[in-house]
Amino acid sequence: MSGLEELRESASEAAEKIRDFDGKIRLVGQYDADGISATSIAYEMLNRAGKDFEYEIIKQLYEEDIERLKEEDEGLILFVDIGSGKASSIEEILTSEKDVVVSDHHEPSEKGSFIHMNPHFSGIDGGEAISAAGMTFILAHEFDEENIDLVEWALIGATGDMQKQEGEFMGLNKGLEELALENNIIEKRRGLDLYGRSTKPLKDSLKYTTDPHLEGISNDEMGAVQFVKNQGVDIRENGDFRTLSDLTPEEEKQLINGLIKTGRPVKPLLNNIYTLKNGYEIGEFSTVINACGRLGRAKDGVKILTEQDLGLAKTVSRAYGRKISESLRFVENNRENEEHIYEDRIGVIDAEDNIEDDFIGTVTTISMSNGFFDSPVVMGVAHAEKGKSKVSSRATKELVEEGLNLGEIIGEICEELDGEGGGHNVAAGAKIPRENKDEFIEMLQEKISSEA
Ligand code: C5P
Repeated sequence: MSGLEELRESASEAAEKIRDFDGKIRLVGQYDADGISATSIAYEMLNRAGKDFEYEIIKQLYEEDIERLKEEDEGLILFVDIGSGKASSIEEILTSEKDVVVSDHHEPSEKGSFIHMNPHFSGIDGGEAISAAGMTFILAHEFDEENIDLVEWALIGATGDMQKQEGEFMGLNKGLEELALENNIIEKRRGLDLYGRSTKPLKDSLKYTTDPHLEGISNDEMGAVQFVKNQGVDIRENGDFRTLSDLTPEEEKQLINGLIKTGRPVKPLLNNIYTLKNGYEIGEFSTVINACGRLGRAKDGVKILTEQDLGLAKTVSRAYGRKISESLRFVENNRENEEHIYEDRIGVIDAEDNIEDDFIGTVTTISMSNGFFDSPVVMGVAHAEKGKSKVSSRATKELVEEGLNLGEIIGEICEELDGEGGGHNVAAGAKIPRENKDEFIEMLQEKISSEA
């Protein structure tokens, strides 16, 4: 039996369990873009079927949550994008009292005796081949074929989990993409892959394009406006600035030809563009859904998806932008305050409770890319819940090309300091006991200086 067939089989078992269950159901999802998309798929599946259910979205599943769920009224607990890592505790605490279905893609701690959908059991990589939203879509589609439209949210979830690489979905996600294209649920075409494609004025998308550098356009608003006008493309429509996605395909071609004719680099800017039914580019929309979770408004993410509330999407985006600016201001204002910001082999942002743990990663990324520090590695650390600290680290591409792998280094330090973490060569993160923070910083400084 192929991996996909095996997955379908466990999805069909899960669908049957939910279909046959007459009591109240509790849906529990995780708070990132993939988790919110998965929750929305399950929400819609249950809602369309007229099931009686409540839902909640949490950041992490702790044993105390499982204990609490055991006491709730609901007889069936459906976990999405969460649960596989805590399968042993679910088995131990919950299965004697409740029916349990888990639809997840994270590394499972065990299979358990409950219905446990996870690609790892079928030899499929849950890291890049399918996300929890994809798994939950397979479940919803097995439940009722009419749920096919929900495949759009499966792709939003996969995008949020960085499963699209160089513009392409892979593995089972590729099959989901094909399903979405065949059914005209999303649109895919080659186009200019610029920041803010569907959310920022075109002149800004051009102005903010700095890699590659576009002579006379990058960081030059007047130049960007002039360039668009020179191609015979209107910069405004009904008084409002147009976004790149407001342009017709012909107009976009005119811009591309304009770049080519003027000898500016175009190839690095061309990529597959996936456009959702609501007009958003998929990556930008998954950023909005992700922002809901980070702002503690995960249920707004479900509302945006299930009610297509685009006004709310705009409100959340603005709030997210403000929060990032505020967090960056802390770094800027403490430039001379060695207690929080310093540079010693690596750039350090020791924010304590001045930046939320959900924002420290973004702040670290921006502080790395905007040249705030001279060091080739930047680390941010902020207080997290339950006496922990959240660590984020980023390295320059140059250092990575020389062989540095931050994910491995962070993983090694975590093993010594009772942390949980890892990641990739350019970006890695961890949760550590707060009392080990200073030692963590020292160890990273030492490892970087011995490798760099
Ligand atoms: O949290 P942050 O944005 O710093 O994470 C950077 C990368 O490290 C992400 O790709 C994330 O998946 C990974 N990571 C991890 N384990 C953690 C935290 C982050 O693998 N505990």
